[in-house]
Amino acid sequence: MKKLYFITGNMGKLAEIQERVKTLDIKVIQKDLGYPEIQVENLEDVAEYGVKHIQKQFNEPFILEDAGLFIDDLDGFPGVYSKYVFYTIGLKGILKLMENTTKRSALFRSVYAYAEPNSKPILFVGECKGTITIKERGTGGFGYDPIFVPEGESKTFAEMSREEKNRYSHRGKAVDELLDFLKK
Ligand code: IMP
Repeated sequence: MKKLYFITGNMGKLAEIQERVKTLDIKVIQKDLGYPEIQVENLEDVAEYGVKHIQKQFNEPFILEDAGLFIDDLDGFPGVYSKYVFYTIGLKGILKLMENTTKRSALFRSVYAYAEPNSKPILFVGECKGTITIKERGTGGFGYDPIFVPEGESKTFAEMSREEKNRYSHRGKAVDELLDFLKK
């Protein structure tokens, strides 16, 4: 069985990929090493910087992932700052910022990086369009899941099963690309 180290401290992300590889010959193993998330404009740069940082201390093939929520009415905020914003103003703060707007479209983006020792990472990108709710709904998932409804659905990510969320989500799509690559 192929071992794949996933550099993350986020148990939600770990559970999502483990659900996806259940039927494959791949075992995803968590490595909570941590890396600095630099302040840049796009997730690709954050992921590539993270890879360089980890490669200095870890000598096996690994994956890491960076994601963000880009809200149109807020000109793409919180975007690359999604983690910081989640732990500061949180969901309530985001809903307050959007109190008086009917423009509720948003985009979730996910960038997975696969890296082998001493080589440049390969990136896999997934996106999911949707809308921001008026109130928080649901108890599943993590992060912004209770306020995000993917296009073509009426439930928030937090009201879906893990499998259902994976089918729609930015990360599910990026993982599909990554797994296609690993199968080859
Ligand atoms: P990071 O990729 O760990 O930096 O995540 C950025 C922020 O976006 C974190 O606060 C997460 O909670 C949030 N986030 C990332 N992916 C998702 C998701 O699938 N659903 C909800 N929130 C997410």
